[in-house]
Amino acid sequence: MKGKQTDHIKRVYHSVEDMLSSEDNPTPIVQLNRVVPYNQTKLYAKLEWYNPFSSVKDRIGANLLADAEEEGLLDEVNQLVEPTSGNTGFALTMLANAKGYSITATLSSMIPIEKRTLLRFFGCDVLEVEDTLCPAPGAPEGAIALAMDTAQKPEFHMLNQYVNQANPNAHYKTTGPEVWKQTEHKITHFVAALGTCGTLTGAGTYLKEKKSSIQLIGVHPEEGHDIPGVRSIIQLRQTKLFRPELYDQLVEVSTREAFDLCLRINREESIIAGPSSGLALAGALKVIQDDENAVVVVIFPDNAFKYASSFQRHFPEMFENMMGAPAQSNIKNKKEELLDKMIELSRNDLNTIGLDEAYNIRSETKPIFIDVRSSDQYSASHITDAINIPINNLLLGDSKLPKDKDYPIVTVCNVGNESIEGLLILKSLGYSNVKSLNGGTTGWTVKGFPIVKK
Ligand SMILES: Cc1ncc(COP(=O)(O)O)c(C=O)c1O
Repeated sequence: MKGKQTDHIKRVYHSVEDMLSSEDNPTPIVQLNRVVPYNQTKLYAKLEWYNPFSSVKDRIGANLLADAEEEGLLDEVNQLVEPTSGNTGFALTMLANAKGYSITATLSSMIPIEKRTLLRFFGCDVLEVEDTLCPAPGAPEGAIALAMDTAQKPEFHMLNQYVNQANPNAHYKTTGPEVWKQTEHKITHFVAALGTCGTLTGAGTYLKEKKSSIQLIGVHPEEGHDIPGVRSIIQLRQTKLFRPELYDQLVEVSTREAFDLCLRINREESIIAGPSSGLALAGALKVIQDDENAVVVVIFPDNAFKYASSFQRHFPEMFENMMGAPAQSNIKNKKEELLDKMIELSRNDLNTIGLDEAYNIRSETKPIFIDVRSSDQYSASHITDAINIPINNLLLGDSKLPKDKDYPIVTVCNVGNESIEGLLILKSLGYSNVKSLNGGTTGWTVKGFPIVKK
């Protein structure tokens, strides 16, 4: 009833869920006129941030949930856990809020701060791990493994966008039919950046069924990229929904090309696209020729607003005179880079301790556990008996530090990055017996070791 009353022409919706896109309520496609080199080929960008939670992932969030509900998988549980690079997390959190579920997202701490902040703001319980931006398929301590561990608990269900057929099916049911109708069946090329591959596999299957000559072009970043949401070819080969036999072409684009084109799309087309839109378009331009019959649709997965920190990193010269901008000058960049390297080099067997070993020595050598995170993070959840001395207080030689410089100390943070900094500070203050806890409070919690939670 609710859905039937929605008037898509007047754009009057009776609930936010009615805004989700479909053939009758498509996200817009807009022709690009300035950054494309064509005289004849018509190239349209499909602007996926017109979905209610601002990305292409709203489509799959809705379908993953609907499918799980239909199969009765959520009859007994009301907690979801999902590995995400951010956008699926936004969609699932907002839909979970609307439907009365709670949600935990596991994600890489390399994901832009804007996404990690907003997820928490929207009400998601966020567990950060050290992982690649788009969670690596086989990483034993990555976001996918942590979500799978959590999903072992009976009160949790993991929808698992990386293998769940409901992901491509969402695009088979919506994205494919939308572009078919929007181009009046004239589409000749469909282009998408590859993450889970749900978009290209799902919409591509639909379009090939309509007209087998439609070219499906998958675009992926180079190895070592930092573009959120997409996977390099090595990772794609381990991705269940990656279907190279269905695609006509795979194109690699460098990080520089993706960010440079993203900037041009914003400035020259006045379209507020994010980095993976730059990537997808750069791939399209590499392989599609000028042709009077060519009608191209390129998916623009989300907009620029979540990526301010990525833009600061990739265009440092733009922010030279901006107050409060991090890493303004090259020297500062270089210093931070070197410091990061020094911290990385200190992450060795001599300086770190694993979760099980740390658990065991609690009763043996009785070390003091020092949690170096902020007091807010500490009070939200910490290892039982750990004391809190945030990094800045450590620097000042806090009074809670033991007088005996040989007393055993274990430094702790979320996952084991800041605690290395803590270790280095303590060593420079003369403490000789310090280790940093690998896996941090997050790993400790997953192991079921004792914690104190707010
Ligand atoms: C920003 C962004 N771009 C592209 C993609 C790739 O889409 P898909 O997972 O359907 O391959 C994603 C997926 O997370 C994304 O978040």
